[in-house]
Amino acid sequence: MSSNDQIRIVEVGPRDGLQNESAQVPTATKIALIDRLSACGFLVVEATSFVSPKWIPQMADAAEVLAGITPREGVMHPVLVPNEKGLERALASGVRGIAVFTAASDAFNLKNTNIDVDGSLQRLTPVVARAREAGLWVRGYVSTVLGCPYQGAVPLADVVRVTAALHEMGCAEISLGDTIGVGTAKQAREMLQACASEVPMERLAVHFHDTYGQALANVFACLEAGVRVVDAAVAGLGGCPYAQGASGNLASEDLVWQLEGLGLRTGVDLDALCDTARWINAELSREPASKLARIPNERRFGRAH
Ligand code: HMG
Ligand code: MG
Repeated sequence: MSSNDQIRIVEVGPRDGLQNESAQVPTATKIALIDRLSACGFLVVEATSFVSPKWIPQMADAAEVLAGITPREGVMHPVLVPNEKGLERALASGVRGIAVFTAASDAFNLKNTNIDVDGSLQRLTPVVARAREAGLWVRGYVSTVLGCPYQGAVPLADVVRVTAALHEMGCAEISLGDTIGVGTAKQAREMLQACASEVPMERLAVHFHDTYGQALANVFACLEAGVRVVDAAVAGLGGCPYAQGASGNLASEDLVWQLEGLGLRTGVDLDALCDTARWINAELSREPASKLARIPNERRFGRAH
């Protein structure tokens, strides 16, 4: 198989998933989740956020989480950083990668980070420059690429402009986020293609929430358009506390099943991932949101026949 058959899944469950939990998740559970996901074969497991604990109390233990995880050869644990203060904290924790974030719509960006889009691009410019000087891998997120919970439709030109700005700033990879999970396949493909006209496709990733049940269809459309990096969260955890109505991320295990069926390689052990999904759901006292985690490993199609 060619390298074009290789998909890198960025596992965002410990960050995008847990940030939305209203009850405080014990630090030890977060550490165990990250270690389990690292052992599943993901090359990137986004670990936590160095955002303001006043805004996201759930992520206040970011330094303790990082100090507790077991480093694993070949696995990176980037962290979300909103500003210079976040970068200071991340550097003090010895991270090797960060992710900065902004939205394509002012209305969401103001709710999420207290500044409009141009303001956040300005705020992030020195953060990205310093992180690169320190030798860190830098990812950028663009939120609300297929719709904003406060503004409604988001012009494609705004999405492309912000994506190009993050690329220009020095982000090695830009993840295009349907924060509230409202987009459908044709829109997703057209949005990706528009961004790819300004930024090379190999620098782009897609990030779908599954609020309207469209995430897998959107991924498929974007795979056909050439994307090879896809974000997902174990057990379909997640949402953004500042995005009204946003539900969980696309579940990693459902994504792996799709990708394997398409003959694409992920390097992820599906049994271990489904076990991890069931385990974190039990820890959070809830039923699995994903399809695959509801099927016992030994009864999965292809095993029981
Ligand atoms: P602000 O209130 O304008 O910031 O918030 P400030 O600079 O005025 O600081 C306010 C207080 O927070 C101060 O403390 C600062 O020191 C402190 P005080 O003096 O009052 O005691 N502070 C910090 N503390 C620790 N770490 C920091 C930090 N920064 C300030 N880094 C700010 C602006 C950006 C900080 C805030 O709005 C924030 O932290 N927002 C983060 C919101 C968030 O994490 N949202 C979820 C992640 S985005 C997402 O999920 C979308 C994504 O998944 C993609 C998609 O789905 O679309 C990525
Ligand atoms: Mg998200």
